[in-house]
Amino acid sequence: MRPPLPAWAARPGQGELVVAVDTPTLDEALRLRDRLADAASFFKIGKELFTAAGPGAVAAFRDVGRVFLDLKFHDIPATVAGAVRAARRHGASIVDVHASGGGRMIAAAARAARPDAAESGDRSLVLAVTVLTHLDQADAAEVFPGAGIVEQVRRLTALAWKAGADGVVASASEARSLRERFGNDLVILTPGIRPGWASEAHDQRRIATPGEAARRGANYLVVGRAITRSRDPRAAALRIREEAAAGGLGAR
Ligand code: C5P
Repeated sequence: MRPPLPAWAARPGQGELVVAVDTPTLDEALRLRDRLADAASFFKIGKELFTAAGPGAVAAFRDVGRVFLDLKFHDIPATVAGAVRAARRHGASIVDVHASGGGRMIAAAARAARPDAAESGDRSLVLAVTVLTHLDQADAAEVFPGAGIVEQVRRLTALAWKAGADGVVASASEARSLRERFGNDLVILTPGIRPGWASEAHDQRRIATPGEAARRGANYLVVGRAITRSRDPRAAALRIREEAAAGGLGAR
């Protein structure tokens, strides 16, 4: 049985901003953290910063908000469970695994995200990564022959949901159909967010604006370079939050 979501979890359509801190050093990450002081309170630490700086990076951002530790675990169930447990002890509020690791791996991750009897504190949310947002239909056909992206995302979401994940990482293009099919308890986190005023898509393909993603039911929006490479990251973050709030389901 899936335990209820913790009180801090964002609602469907809220589009809470999670800033992707993809920097090569902790120093750069800390400079960014300080510039974003009152503009963001959820941060994503991924493979680049974690590999460079280790758990200290999680602690540094825990001081000012919540952390999504985006290491996309994909391994045998016991190894993934151990990694999720360690991530939770570092204070990660959200962790993720690749849905393609299979139901037993996802279930092991979901169990490991809960504190055991001797521990206190909240559980972490476990999200399953479906199809990465840099893949377009042609790229995806090379990886998953025979299925369109939307169908593949739906299939992986069904697998993850049944195995006990709290939700999925998917692009905003699939968010609405997932929300309709799996209901309001599914947490949807969407990367690939590009505001209308951001000039570059970078390597992302399945992109949407903050308002679109929130309107399609996303709980969380992950935004990296549109904020971190902006001349004024704080202003960019505040503007994205405004756009998500105006477009989001909560606004209607
Ligand atoms: O800079 P940008 O906004 O494209 O950053 C997106 C972030 O989200 C990156 O850290 C990337 O690793 C992550 N991500 C993604 N697509 C997924 C899962 C995570 O782009 N499906």
